[in-house]
Amino acid sequence: MTQPALSQDVSPDFAAEVRAGLTHTPQKELPSKYLYDEVGSALFEVITVLPEYGVTRAEERLLTKHAADIVAQLPHDVTVAELGSGSGRKTRRILEALCKKRPTSYCPIEISRTALQLCRRELGDIERISIVGYERDYLAGLAEVSKKRASGERLLVLFLGSTIGNFSRLAATRFLRAIRSMLAPGDALLLGTDLEKPVPVLVAAYDDAIGVTASFNLNLLARINRELGGDFPLDAFQHVARFNPDARSIEMHLRARRPVTAHIRAAQLTVTLEEGETIWTESSHKYRAEEVPAIADDAGFACSHQWVEREWGFAESLLVAQ
Ligand code: AVJ
Repeated sequence: MTQPALSQDVSPDFAAEVRAGLTHTPQKELPSKYLYDEVGSALFEVITVLPEYGVTRAEERLLTKHAADIVAQLPHDVTVAELGSGSGRKTRRILEALCKKRPTSYCPIEISRTALQLCRRELGDIERISIVGYERDYLAGLAEVSKKRASGERLLVLFLGSTIGNFSRLAATRFLRAIRSMLAPGDALLLGTDLEKPVPVLVAAYDDAIGVTASFNLNLLARINRELGGDFPLDAFQHVARFNPDARSIEMHLRARRPVTAHIRAAQLTVTLEEGETIWTESSHKYRAEEVPAIADDAGFACSHQWVEREWGFAESLLVAQ
């Protein structure tokens, strides 16, 4: 039997991480960063406008209302580096407020080329902006931006959208420390965190009525099939969103409706799941606004300001490198 050709650029990282995750015991897992291929990025854009998913709208309201105030707290002459720019829509307010004062460089850092293109299209028309995209991992990209800056130039790192929620609490502190290690005292980090809210509200936000989030999650298996020569039967998997009260996170899983055996050619792997067994694909940790200053302090920052949206529950915190 002839096998279909594998797509041109099979990432060795992707294959290796899929292999590591699907052989992990007792809980099979896949890294959430691989949810964002072209299809996944497009589905996530739809998620941000779903009635159940209040996260993005809450942050947009915050940034629209407080952009001038946020910018007023920043040092003069900042270069902006954004970790995971997404489409760039919510960043617009901050960049407009900055560019009104002086010409500003904006460096989106994204592993998704699609997202970088979207972001350039979305923000390229802002007056006096210069955009230089980095198709890199967050920390590698930030190291590069930091290295290239002129003396006297300050960095403003944007880490919005509650992307930090994808890390465990321990990993989040470590990540903030890693960011801090690339900054100079006085540089700033604007951090968006989704806040704790009633469990049914959270579960609905990650298991919407029309199944967009389910498709977003299932696309990860479809992507493995497409890019790594996998044969996961998609109809054998069900999207599950559940709250983990110990971690204070919403977890997304893919649950096998029946026993499944699948092969992934580029990972040289045969994987079997029992009926009911799950693959854990993402966690979104939820925070209390009051816990952010302590986390910041732990990582070498001082939380100088916070802006909180109470309607949905979202906080923007300004952390200044000490
Ligand atoms: C983009 C990581 C912030 O965790 O809320 C949305 C991703 N996953 N619905 C989140 C996501 C399912 C989102 N982040």
